[in-house]
Amino acid sequence: MKKEVMVLTGAGQIGMAIARRMGYGKKIIVGDKKLENAQAIAKTMNQVGFDVMPLEMDLASRTSIRSLIAQAQKYGDITMLVNAAGVSPSQASIQTILQVDLYGTAVLLEEVGKVIAPGGVGVTISSQSGHRMPQLTPEADEQLACTPTEDLLSLDILQPEHIRDTLHAYQMAKRCNEKRVMAEAVKWGKKGARVNSISPGIIVTPLAIDEFNGPRGEFYKNMFAKCPAGRPGTADEVANVAELLMSSKGAFITGADFLIDGGATASYFYGPLKP
Ligand SMILES: NC(=O)c1ccc[n+]([C@@H]2O[C@H](COP(=O)([O-])OP(=O)(O)OC[C@H]3O[C@@H](n4cnc5c(N)ncnc54)[C@H](O)[C@@H]3O)[C@@H](O)[C@H]2O)c1
Repeated sequence: MKKEVMVLTGAGQIGMAIARRMGYGKKIIVGDKKLENAQAIAKTMNQVGFDVMPLEMDLASRTSIRSLIAQAQKYGDITMLVNAAGVSPSQASIQTILQVDLYGTAVLLEEVGKVIAPGGVGVTISSQSGHRMPQLTPEADEQLACTPTEDLLSLDILQPEHIRDTLHAYQMAKRCNEKRVMAEAVKWGKKGARVNSISPGIIVTPLAIDEFNGPRGEFYKNMFAKCPAGRPGTADEVANVAELLMSSKGAFITGADFLIDGGATASYFYGPLKP
């Protein structure tokens, strides 16, 4: 029996929370570089009535993305995309962050955009990090938004002499995610489909716990302690935003980015978190 299909990349906690909120009644194809992560969430979800198939995939590779999409299409039309795959500044090198978070996300949005069903919706998880970075020039923003995907990593602004460290690479990748979503929303709109990004602040997941224990651990702990909410967030709170964006209540929302950070960015600019 053909079903509507949700493609989920990144079998982490944020991805699973969104899949649980929006994926009922659908075939959910979950791809992750670590097959065991995809298998783990497939097991958890299949035991409570979802229909999840785990696959190994690498967001950094167009071939791998295309193969995931081809597998998904065997089950029916792709009506939902959730991209929650990624690496954080303490987990990977500058090159890997740019290859996975920046290039991979751009390719995924492009490839799914070619096949998304009418009325389909996508969300990709960006980050508050992209909001804390100073504004780029309008030219740089446009390059991140519109450069053909295969030329993205050759942009001058992304060359090693212009990227200070892994945090800067991550911020550029997340800024690029927001800009790609804007440019892709125009294309997805021609198919009657929508795509948005969500920029979470500190959400307690294994990725965030790596950050708490990494070189910037104290910085992150201070950030959630001093943000207006006074705590880190949960993956289910990110799913609340995804539900708005992916349901019919979000029908007028596309090409947009939603910050959900407990007010950390506000405090960074105009409060006690100001550097
Ligand atoms: N947790 C936070 O505080 C936070 C804040 C802002 C943004 N984010 C973003 O949310 C997204 C999901 O993070 P999470 O916190 O749920 O982390 P997580 O570690 O729980 O999940 C991330 C998943 O992505 C997978 N992955 C990594 N590289 C991959 C690749 N090349 N191809 C396919 N899969 C790959 C990992 O194996 C892992 O299963 C990431 O893009 C992250 O940057 C997280």
